[in-house]
Amino acid sequence: MTLSIDALARLQTVDEFEQAARAILPTPSYDYYRSGADEERTLRRNRRAFRRYQLWYRVLVDVSQRTLATKVLGTDVAMPILVAPTAYHQLAHAEGEVATARGTAAVGSLMVVSTLATRTLEDVAAVPGPKWFQLYVHRDRGLTRSLVDRAVAAGYRALVVTVDTPVLGRRLAAERSNFVLPPGLHMANLKEAAQAVAPEGGLALAAYVASRHDASLTWRDIEWLRSLSSLPVVLKGIVRGDDARIAAECGAAGIIVSNHGARQLDGAPATIEALPEVAEAVGAMRNPPEVLMDGGIRWGTDIFKALALGARAVLLGRPILWALTVGGEAGVQRMLELMAGELSRAMALAGCASVTAIDRGLVRPAPRE
Ligand code: GLV
Repeated sequence: MTLSIDALARLQTVDEFEQAARAILPTPSYDYYRSGADEERTLRRNRRAFRRYQLWYRVLVDVSQRTLATKVLGTDVAMPILVAPTAYHQLAHAEGEVATARGTAAVGSLMVVSTLATRTLEDVAAVPGPKWFQLYVHRDRGLTRSLVDRAVAAGYRALVVTVDTPVLGRRLAAERSNFVLPPGLHMANLKEAAQAVAPEGGLALAAYVASRHDASLTWRDIEWLRSLSSLPVVLKGIVRGDDARIAAECGAAGIIVSNHGARQLDGAPATIEALPEVAEAVGAMRNPPEVLMDGGIRWGTDIFKALALGARAVLLGRPILWALTVGGEAGVQRMLELMAGELSRAMALAGCASVTAIDRGLVRPAPRE
């Protein structure tokens, strides 16, 4: 059940989308999407940390013509706002990831499709528009290789390897509401993998990760991953400058500064706090990897701050899930347009006609209130 176009148009903020989605979703699904790890300190911090920066805008710049267009790993996108990989889109909408892909393509953005999608990566790839594939490295290297081969054959343009999930973080809210994939929904890309059985009170996904993911993954395996295809490899889940430099030395074409939507290590820094260190660490390298970030973005001004602090583009996770719930394809399109409109307005008010004009000098730490 989605909202009418009129009701959708009345939603003006990400929080309003979330409230509307909450009224539609079964509680376990809402809890699974919303929850962070443990005490959810990092979940709160991801959002709040944006407030620690102020926008020191410039005036009397011609901003009558503005463009949000940019390139990510050589692909043209209409805006520096991409769709993050998130699991199980059919919890939100019957068409699942296919609807997300359509809404993303409608605005000229790029979607990162999760290994844990409920539609096959081939079905999602059949929707026009650029896509990257998020890869979980499984102990079964044959399975991992076959996911990569399928992504290549289906036309994905990059592999986004999640590096922050040797085990699954503990999401208490989802555990307490006994979240399981409802009957009829599957991890569509992993049919050959036996579904793990959840221990009493735990999440089935945690059991799956514990039994199937490769917790022994190290930097040495990145070379192996690169050898599997000619696709650029992006490492997602880095928050430290020294790790960013090693990633670059291992040949990563991109880094996503991410703490997995605060769902893994509680107590990790907010991603907007980690971004400057990562951007600085690779900025002076020859052939630096592109730096992207996700986590806690709810306003166009948050995106502006991330671009100023060194991100080439940002990715939206939960906001897209709320939008998919309330409006399917049209909801995703509207969310991306809302964020793009806010970013464009922030650019006008800060004296930037293009995203390349958003420089570090426009953002300074806020004094304590
Ligand atoms: C899956 O990646 C999750 O964070 O639940």
